[in-house]
Amino acid sequence: MDTAEVLHEVAEQVKRCVRCDLHFSRKNAVPGEGPANAEIMLIGEAPGFYENEQGRPFVGSSGKFLGELLQKGGITREEVFITNIVKCRPPANRDPLPEELATCNDYLETQMNALNPLVIVTLGRFSLARFIPNVRISDVHGKPRWIKEQLIIPMYHPAAALHQPALRSVLERDFSHLMEWVKQARQKRGGPASSTSHPTGAGPAPEKREENPPAQPSLF
Ligand code: URA
Repeated sequence: MDTAEVLHEVAEQVKRCVRCDLHFSRKNAVPGEGPANAEIMLIGEAPGFYENEQGRPFVGSSGKFLGELLQKGGITREEVFITNIVKCRPPANRDPLPEELATCNDYLETQMNALNPLVIVTLGRFSLARFIPNVRISDVHGKPRWIKEQLIIPMYHPAAALHQPALRSVLERDFSHLMEWVKQARQKRGGPASSTSHPTGAGPAPEKREENPPAQPSLF
């Protein structure tokens, strides 16, 4: 199966999934969406009210803000693959439970393996912890680091800025560096460094590539 076929198959499985109790309360599972050749994968936490209604990720107010952040960063939503670590809405938007995170992880793994994105942007602390456990988002946001083949870029969740307006400019600044990091990642992976028409910022350089990261990478 090629990438598009695997992503389609995962989406079909997610829509029918009954592996955890979230399927009892969901209206629609939200597998994720985006082109099969996306270089950038954004991973949020879990669907909210509007995502549960529509079966699409980030279509509510945090999704609107995410679209603005991407646009300011020099890329459109249509060019990136967007998903969540948990594919069904937790009741009343509560935090995902450890068993829900564990159960849903298979789907994310399959999506990541199929897509093999250059860059993974984690949105919020749950997504961050999936890749870099035991760190504070306030310490690591906007500081990319290589984990195996991917440049992982921790970012605050867009919804955080809707609750704490001071985080808005932090998110805007971090996203403004996104395409510079993508460009640097292309160079590392041996792709065409200058193939982008996107503006380049002067974001912090990614951490040194970790070929075999420790289970719990120590940061900075
Ligand atoms: N918040 C998320 O983490 N994901 C969505 O899809 C919507 C809101």
